[in-house]
Amino acid sequence: MKERLVTTVNGRRIERYVDPSMRLVDFLRDELLLTGTKIGCKQGECGACTIIMNGTAVLSCIMPVMKAMDAEILTIEGLEKDGTLHPIQDEFIKGGAIQCGFCTPGFIMGTKALLDENPSPTSEEVREELSGHICRCTGYKKIEEAVLKAAERLREEKDD
Ligand code: FES
Ligand code: FES
Repeated sequence: MKERLVTTVNGRRIERYVDPSMRLVDFLRDELLLTGTKIGCKQGECGACTIIMNGTAVLSCIMPVMKAMDAEILTIEGLEKDGTLHPIQDEFIKGGAIQCGFCTPGFIMGTKALLDENPSPTSEEVREELSGHICRCTGYKKIEEAVLKAAERLREEKDD
């Protein structure tokens, strides 16, 4: 039997009747058509499905949809502002930290959660925080550099 779900996704209040056995990633992709969030392993092991829920990076492939009740969810689609990419997205592109792009939304959401919490991470902290993300094509070095660059830029923007 379907259950009523009320949640907020990328600033938009959503009310739907859903199958409670559904995973959050399927709700986002199939019901809301937010396909920026990717599905890799569907077992909580690759990080491709990472989103931010109530300020914390979570794996939406292992998250029951009803956990989203009354939550604030941010997906990759919610990062750009008026057609301008978020500095993290921009630095990933500029730094060549993207090849096929499949892992990228997950990395970017993981980075956003990290930098919201810790605006000046060390390289070790970046590596540690993003260690649950798998990329099969870009060297991790470029990703790490893009994260550090984005952190620097966000700090500068804050100071302006
Ligand atoms: S698809 Fe969720 S961790 Fe791999
Ligand atoms: S860019 Fe292809 S999996 Fe990461």
